[in-house]
Amino acid sequence: LLLQVLRKDFVLPDFQEFTGELAAIFERCRANTEGRVANCIPQLARADPTRWGAAVCTVDGQRAGFGDHQVPFCLQSVSKPLNYALAMTEAGSDRVHQFVGYEPSGISFNSIALNSENKPHNPMINSGAIAVCSLLARGQRLADRFDYVLRQYLRMSAGERLGFSNSTFLSERESSDRNYAIGYYMRENGCFPPDTDLRETLDFYLQLCALEATCDSAAVIAATLANGGVCPLTGDPVLSAEAVRDTLSLMHSCGLYDYSGQFAFKCGLPAKSGVSGAILLVIPGLMGIALWSPPLDRQGNSCRGIQFCRELVARFSLHNF
Ligand code: DON
Repeated sequence: LLLQVLRKDFVLPDFQEFTGELAAIFERCRANTEGRVANCIPQLARADPTRWGAAVCTVDGQRAGFGDHQVPFCLQSVSKPLNYALAMTEAGSDRVHQFVGYEPSGISFNSIALNSENKPHNPMINSGAIAVCSLLARGQRLADRFDYVLRQYLRMSAGERLGFSNSTFLSERESSDRNYAIGYYMRENGCFPPDTDLRETLDFYLQLCALEATCDSAAVIAATLANGGVCPLTGDPVLSAEAVRDTLSLMHSCGLYDYSGQFAFKCGLPAKSGVSGAILLVIPGLMGIALWSPPLDRQGNSCRGIQFCRELVARFSLHNF
């Protein structure tokens, strides 16, 4: 087995049987009709609550999809760990953490609050993600920065389907008083590098939230994180191993809003959710899983998605500890 791993022709055994079990869990979650679709962004409020998709991609490239796994959805906050991983790869940890901390905030993801060093608490909440966006591909024109990030996401997804929902971007920008307030508060407190164009930074942040994926393409991205930053389908080393380690650590401690501690306790896996109902779940060294269903629980996580994670960990011993 070790030689197979070293020769890179290792194949996870029993994948067929595993996907059979996943299909059963998936169907049980479909019956869950709890939760409400997010209403904070007008375009997202129109989402169909019956949508339910899941996909898995292993580090040796085996794949499976369930339900609406080919239907595009906005990444929303699922873009936050990806942007952080890119910034860490590109600019390094010292530079990034000059502007953002790595401690759970214990307060809502869109709070106007900074830590005792006047930095956003972590990159998985809006303030921290806005700080990360101010660093990404810095020095280029906004159009080129957007192209750059999309290109990097495509390297993570092996070129598989990604898109951009302009209507979501426009409608969110119109109703983003809170993010503007966070941005101005951060600027007042010296949270950005000098000469940061705040409006451009907020546009960039909101545009990356409006990027679209399918469960299929997002599962490949999750598998790139599970595989130390190397896309398992292409062998492309998109992200540095250190950046991925730090990203997964923060997903583990801060990835699911005010449910992060409970999720770390009960599921013991790094994950990140978004208000669109997406969840990116990483099983380090094994596989990436993408889940999408718009109805959210009170903490803002997809009801079906959380049930799926909990049943998965109950059925297979995937908890880190
Ligand atoms: O900025 C916002 O509030 C949304 N674009 C994203 C919110 C989200 O998905 C969760 N944030 N951690």
